[in-house]
Amino acid sequence: MPAKEREEDIKVSKTLSKIKNRLLVFSGKGGVGKSTVAANLSLAFSMRGLTVGLLDVDIHGPNLAKILGVEGKRMDVSPEGIKAVDVNDNLKLVSMSFLLQDPNLPVIWRGPLKMKAIQQFLGDVDWGELDWLVIDSPPGTGDEPLSVAQLIPASGAIIVTTPQELSLMDSRKAVAFAKSLNLKILGIIENMSGMTCPHCGKDIDLFKKGGGEKVALELGVPFLGKIPIDPQIVISTDEGKPFIGTQPDSEASKALMKIVKSITETKAH
Ligand SMILES: Nc1ncnc2c1ncn2[C@@H]1O[C@H](COP(=O)(O)OP(=O)(O)OP(=O)(O)O)[C@@H](O)[C@H]1O
Ligand SMILES: [Mg+2]
Repeated sequence: MPAKEREEDIKVSKTLSKIKNRLLVFSGKGGVGKSTVAANLSLAFSMRGLTVGLLDVDIHGPNLAKILGVEGKRMDVSPEGIKAVDVNDNLKLVSMSFLLQDPNLPVIWRGPLKMKAIQQFLGDVDWGELDWLVIDSPPGTGDEPLSVAQLIPASGAIIVTTPQELSLMDSRKAVAFAKSLNLKILGIIENMSGMTCPHCGKDIDLFKKGGGEKVALELGVPFLGKIPIDPQIVISTDEGKPFIGTQPDSEASKALMKIVKSITETKAH
């Protein structure tokens, strides 16, 4: 192996040696709520006093800075390395969006270049000691989750799905992907799982309900929980105020906190 590549590998290993738990959030289908889950999960960990690094490996559509209200901030890049953006005292974020001159222009990169960027986000960032590194992926089983699986061994994986068959079909592939890459599947989250009508209070199963749970059972992987549709989530996400912080008593927040508890308890064993 050339000396430069070996040097990069050593830097990544050094970073990883200081991180207790690694968690990849991904999905078969797009728009199912991965970034929303990754951001709120990370914030929930940080609110429990855990130190968290959030790595946005969605190179083409990085959304986490917007969701966490730190859009427009920059990561300092110097010969000493890259500095993550602080979201709060316990949570820091690294994302391609902090490096772009114009957030409206696309990043047009092929696989190897994306892998290199992810490697640098790991090796050249001083993440420090972390309880959790949470990684948010673009949809599908492409270059980015593959790079993560290769670069970050012993990662846990959470698969986010919505309940309708169209999304479940792709989630089965996501589970197979995680299994074939030896990721430890922490479980499936069913997001956008039913909603309560804000006008009449009756339940509406907009994208059906229970499909994620059924697939988890069918594939023999843990089911982590259902998060309902909540129109407030769209509003608070657009405003950069994650719902776990702004609406802690909502059904969605309660569901997410149960998921957080189950993940931290699983990891403790
Ligand atoms: N439980 C929910 N209730 C209401 N809206 C939600 C919920 N979860 C996510 N959303 C909204 O759905 C949209 C898509 O969510 P998000 O960007 O997190 O999905 P994603 O899976 O990361 O998308 P992509 O595949 O493009 O990365 C956002 O506008 C978000 O606010
Ligand atoms: Mg996303």
